[in-house]
Formats: sequence, structure tokens, C-alpha cells
Amino acid sequence: MASGPTVETERLILRRWRERDRDEFAALNADPEVMEHFPNVLSTEESDQMLRRIDRQFEEFGFGLWAVDIKWAKKFIGFCGLAVPTFQTHFTPAVEIGWRFAKDQWGSGYATEAAKAVLDFGFEQAELEQILSWTIPANQRSQRVMERLGMIRTPDLDFDHPRFLHDDRLRRHVVYRITREQWAADRG
Ligand SMILES: CC(C)(COP(=O)(O)OP(=O)(O)OC[C@H]1O[C@@H](n2cnc3c(N)ncnc32)[C@H](O)[C@@H]1OP(=O)(O)O)[C@@H](O)C(=O)NCCC(=O)NCCS
Repeated sequence: MASGPTVETERLILRRWRERDRDEFAALNADPEVMEHFPNVLSTEESDQMLRRIDRQFEEFGFGLWAVDIKWAKKFIGFCGLAVPTFQTHFTPAVEIGWRFAKDQWGSGYATEAAKAVLDFGFEQAELEQILSWTIPANQRSQRVMERLGMIRTPDLDFDHPRFLHDDRLRRHVVYRITREQWAADRG
């Protein structure tokens, strides 16, 4: 797979995907605890499809959902990055920040550390004006990451995800936002 922007933090490297990540990515997507707030775990084929979609976004936009490695161990632990949603709602087109990490790596601050660097990339390199993040209300862990990043809950942007039926527990989404000005102010 192609080369492209990498992002480095104190403990982590965010990099483009390699062919050999496929198995570990499939294992991540097949874990019911990791996928609790999604419709289902992904099959190997669905996981591979997702990798291809991620790669296409890197080629199209110059950013995407990076593979995340722990630097010292050179160990793949999940992804974090920027994505452009392919569905339409009242605030699209938009850029979202997202993350998914292996369960045994939760509770170490890796998601927040990676995501802070992704916000910096989004505002400094990609020159975005705002970055959104959304999840279902039950996904408290993800919302805590958003809050640690200084993102602001913005109820006006909440939406019903068009890919789910009206009575689906996954339909209603809460939205957080950070603007370029808020990001700059947070950095002092
Ligand atoms: C959402 C998700 C990435 C959050 O992971 P996380 O490990 O809870 O988040 P962080 O990396 O910010 O870590 C914060 C935790 O690490 C702890 N921590 C330990 N060392 C730390 C450090 N050096 N810096 C910051 N926090 C640290 C914090 O105290 C906090 O612990 P707590 O959960 O007991 O409050 C993870 O739950 C996940 O991958 N979920 C499945 C996928 C998913 O739902 N994605 C989002 C879809 S919208």
C-alpha cells in the first residue's frame, strides 16, 4: 500500500496501512467488545473492504484513518484519523475524527494522544475550519475522548443516521465539534 503522511506523538506512530496489517485489523473488527456500538462485528471481507475505503480517502484527500503503532514495540494497536462521511445529513459534507483501538490497549490514553495529533494535522496541514465527531449516546468512552480533546457537544448538530431504521438503537447520534479558533485557543 502507498506511502503518505505520518504523524508522530510521544508514544505512537500514525502511519499509512501495510498489507501485513490486514489480519490484525480483521481481528480488531471481529471483537464484539470493540464493536459493541456498531451494528455488527466485521467479517474478514468487510474488514478488507474498509481498508480499501480508508486507502481511497488518503489518496483523495491527503488524510485518512491512520494505522496506529506503539513506537517502542512497533506494535499495531488500532486506528485514529480523519474521515469524510459517505452518507448525507444536515451538516455534510464534513470531516470527522474517529478512533478504534484494541481492547487490551484501552485505559492508557492512546486514543486521546493519537487524536490530539490528528487534530493538529487537520488544522495545520489539511487547513480545515472545523472537525466533528459523533457517536451514539451509549458510547460514553468515545464521548470522553471527545471531551478530553476540547471538543464541544453541539446538540444542534445531533442527527439520525440515515443508514439505520427509525427504531434502531444505533440511529440517534450525538455530535461534538471543535473549530479552528477553539483548537488554537486551547493550545494557548
Ligand atoms: C473509544 C476508545 C478509543 C476509548 O479508548 P480509551 O482507552 O478509553 O481512551 P483514551 O486513550 O483517551 O484513554 C483514557 C483512559 O486512559 C487513562 N490513562 C492512562 N494513562 C494515560 C495517559 N498517559 N494519558 C491519558 N490518559 C491515560 C485515563 O485515565 C482514562 O482511563 P478511564 O477510561 O479509566 O477513565 C475505545 O474505547 C475504543 O476503541 N472503543 C471501540 C471503538 C469505538 O467505539 N470507537 C468510537 C466510535 S464513535
